[in-house]
Amino acid sequence: MLNSFVCNELVLMCIVISCVSARNLWDYSTDNPKKTLFDEKNKDHWRIQAQWTLKNKIQTSLNTKYAKNVILFLGDGMSITTLAATRVYLGQKYGGLGEELKLSFEVFPYTGLAKTYCVDNNVADSACSGTAYLSGVKANSGTVGLSGAVKRGDCEGQRQGTHSVTGLIDWAQNAGKATGVVTTTRVTHATPAASYAHSADRKWESDTDQPKNGEQCDDIATQLVNGKVGSKINVIFGGGRKNFLPKTFKDIEGNRGHRSDGKDLIKEWLRKKTSYGVSAKYIYNRKELLNLEPVFTNVLGLFSPDHMPYHIEAGDDDPALSEMVVKAIDILSKNKNGFFLFVEGGRIDTAHHETKARKALDETAEFAKAVEAALRIVDNDETLIIVTSDHSHTMSYSGYSKRGTDILGFVNKSNATDRFPYTTLNYANGPGYKPEEDSHRHNLTLDDLSNPNYTYPSLVPIPRETHGGEDVAVYAKGPWAHIFSGNYEQNFIPHAIAYAACIGPGLTSCTF
Ligand SMILES: *[C@@H]1O[C@H](CO)[C@@H](O)[C@H](O)[C@H]1NC(C)=O
Ligand SMILES: *[C@@H]1O[C@H](CO)[C@@H](O)[C@H](O)[C@H]1NC(C)=O
Ligand SMILES: *[C@@H]1O[C@H](CO)[C@@H](O)[C@H](O)[C@H]1NC(C)=O
Ligand SMILES: *[C@@H]1O[C@H](CO)[C@@H](O)[C@H](O)[C@H]1NC(C)=O
Ligand SMILES: [Zn+2]
Repeated sequence: MLNSFVCNELVLMCIVISCVSARNLWDYSTDNPKKTLFDEKNKDHWRIQAQWTLKNKIQTSLNTKYAKNVILFLGDGMSITTLAATRVYLGQKYGGLGEELKLSFEVFPYTGLAKTYCVDNNVADSACSGTAYLSGVKANSGTVGLSGAVKRGDCEGQRQGTHSVTGLIDWAQNAGKATGVVTTTRVTHATPAASYAHSADRKWESDTDQPKNGEQCDDIATQLVNGKVGSKINVIFGGGRKNFLPKTFKDIEGNRGHRSDGKDLIKEWLRKKTSYGVSAKYIYNRKELLNLEPVFTNVLGLFSPDHMPYHIEAGDDDPALSEMVVKAIDILSKNKNGFFLFVEGGRIDTAHHETKARKALDETAEFAKAVEAALRIVDNDETLIIVTSDHSHTMSYSGYSKRGTDILGFVNKSNATDRFPYTTLNYANGPGYKPEEDSHRHNLTLDDLSNPNYTYPSLVPIPRETHGGEDVAVYAKGPWAHIFSGNYEQNFIPHAIAYAACIGPGLTSCTF
């Protein structure tokens, strides 16, 4: 009935739509411009599209299998507004009007909303929210892997150990699964750190950044190399080499280390792995990543002294997030018990803090490509994939522009009441504040919006734009994906993942 309704009227559309929904993916791999395929003025366009969505929904049966593998993708600062704007950015790159595009994970069958506030603050930072969605416990801002009993900077509270919380990486390791952490930031930055470290201050990435009162608290890099959880992570890819090398050393690219204790933690990592009797390798650029011999089960890739560069500014030596993800999955899938992989697109957040909207959207597009690359190579029936964010930002998407208007350009309809143009994307606060000129709003007409470093207009002047406090989206696909529907506290996420993957101390879906 449905098929005849759909297919008799416009056979071509039917074929096109069914191909798209069967693949359930947007094809990023082709550079051929994709024009808008259908006539939106035709009522059948919308009916057919909606009927196919409906058909897919009613035909989807619940997957209650055991999630052998789990990949948790985290777009740092990837607000829902960021996603809506990135669709247009990417959709226009592929030759469409833009708005109609679905990002690779927006076709997942189940979505939810997570509340992101932390124990002490109404708006989250990446450290407290990381603790929530990785360990299942809400925490104070600026702290990782510690309960809300420890305030930021409380070194003694960290050392006591009684307030430490462990989460998905620890639980997966205890279940014999391989584990991996991939990020575009320093691997010791707040988000990845929340997966393996306990630190009363996210800034304590190396021993050089430690409490000034002389207290000694294990720094985050040290915990990654020697910690109970950190030392057992199989794959670590990202930036932040400097926190592993002494100030007196220069790395292979000539950059100085940042450590004061004289330790070469890269060597220590290799020694530690040797003591565990596993095959391990350290790599430092894209070529080494792509040519990695398949014999290694443990790989440390530090591709940059600091954060990895923005994709827009990356060179030949810098791997793309999708390349790191594919290699990580290659390595981790060798484990017969499955794996847990945590992936962060970390520069979405840093771009928003600078109100560089073009970079934020481009990083989000790269993140969506990394999710798609993973979807292509994992067994979707036994792999739970979650895509979410830690917190929002203050970017808004507004105006009543014509369809297909450049998302990074001006509102295409009318100027403001002051007769000056305004942009579709704006920030509530941040460095994009433009001082008045001759007692009127800055005239944006000659601003170079095509420069990736252009700072989008901000209402309130502050040097770093802040996070936002509203909920973030959670997209789920694979075993038990349906339990991620609804609106819940962010710390629910790892409990639900643990249930599906049969790990951790809480409820699980398995009887073994
Ligand atoms: C608005 O958009 C339309 C179609 O995209 C374009 O033809 C027109 O020049 C734009 N107008 C302004 C003021 O930018
Ligand atoms: C907005 O103002 C600019 C110059 O400030 C002008 O070029 C443009 O035509 C105006 N747009 C509309 C839609 O009025
Ligand atoms: C804004 O700047 C443009 C380019 O200099 C100019 O043409 C336009 O008149 C200015 N708009 C107003 C309202 O003064
Ligand atoms: C943007 O800023 C970065 C860092 O400050 C710089 O390396 C890059 O060249 C700038 N890009 C452009 C197009 O100006
Ligand atoms: Zn941030």
